[in-house]
Amino acid sequence: MDKRYFSDKVVEWYRLNKRDLPWRNTKDPYKIWLSEIILQQTRVVQGLPYYIKFVEKFPTVKDLANASEQEVLRLWQGLGYYTRGRNLHKCAKIVVTQFKGVFPTQFDTLLSLPGIGHYTAAAIASFSSKQPVAVVDGNVLRVLARVFGIEKEINGPEGKALFTTLANELISQKIPDEHNQAIMEFGALNCTPKNPDCQSCVLVSGCVAAKNDLQKQLPVKIKGKTARNRYFNYVVFKKGKSLLMKKREGKDIWQGLFDFYLIETKRSAKSDKLLHDQTMLKGIKSQHIIFSSKKYKHVLSHQIIQASFIVVNDNRKTIPSTKGFKYYSLKQIDQLPKPVLITRFLKDHDLL
Ligand code: ADE
Ligand code: SF4
Repeated sequence: MDKRYFSDKVVEWYRLNKRDLPWRNTKDPYKIWLSEIILQQTRVVQGLPYYIKFVEKFPTVKDLANASEQEVLRLWQGLGYYTRGRNLHKCAKIVVTQFKGVFPTQFDTLLSLPGIGHYTAAAIASFSSKQPVAVVDGNVLRVLARVFGIEKEINGPEGKALFTTLANELISQKIPDEHNQAIMEFGALNCTPKNPDCQSCVLVSGCVAAKNDLQKQLPVKIKGKTARNRYFNYVVFKKGKSLLMKKREGKDIWQGLFDFYLIETKRSAKSDKLLHDQTMLKGIKSQHIIFSSKKYKHVLSHQIIQASFIVVNDNRKTIPSTKGFKYYSLKQIDQLPKPVLITRFLKDHDLL
């Protein structure tokens, strides 16, 4: 397919079919950056309310930089991939300290900032100031693999280089911003992962996948690691209307979020045996147990967590001596950033 034809057709389709999304009506690199970080690994319908909340609470990069990490994570709550939320805050601080609060727009400068990779740098540079750098996300990869019939794996190093080169050859030099938006929107709405709408597709006459019935085979992907199972046994200490919580530190999931006293086991564990085996919790007797929850299954991108909660009355002897634990009132807990799993448990038991 002719390269000029590809861009013209997709942009023409875009002008007729695009959704009216708030980040498409701005040239402000800060707002474009916000939207792109929020929308990574997230569908537009899910990301949109977060974008609106963030812009409202932090209208400028300075407002975001001046917030506490805890505030930012609380607002991020529910979006998952919390490293993105932490990097968002880090990046805002760097823009304020090193760039005097002026959000960069140059592709190479953007790449040096935390949480900004090739995709995000290309998006900001093209949308905010028409630099001709191609965005290459899942939508773009799918469209290119199908239209040009490329069988190289999209997530291997060779494939990544190949697709990036092709995307940069295709990009319109005159309207790189619209071209980039157009191809992503086309992938999201027309050339969808399942059941692409080939019948009404503007590219069908030159599309290799449509001609050879390869829509289901393309794009080709190398299978990733399978998810691992983890077993979380939470002991929730209760004193009056307060619960014992701690901020998670270290390299594991949910860094910076709050949860309860946690015993992780290799397999599913019975609660009585668990309490008996933990020297620290030996003081807990059956009369201290208020209730045991049902089992919760919480699916993350590479982990499946099976969790249970035992709520116990604090009788002074039983409280774990581990550092960092503090009692928080239910009102305070509402304001703490928490994993969705913890919020589910709290809501199920009318604690939020
Ligand atoms: N997903 C990622 N970036 C997007 C954008 N700019 N518009 C719509 N969906 C997107
Ligand atoms: Fe995608 Fe079908 Fe259009 Fe080809 S013809 S670009 S597979 S929607």
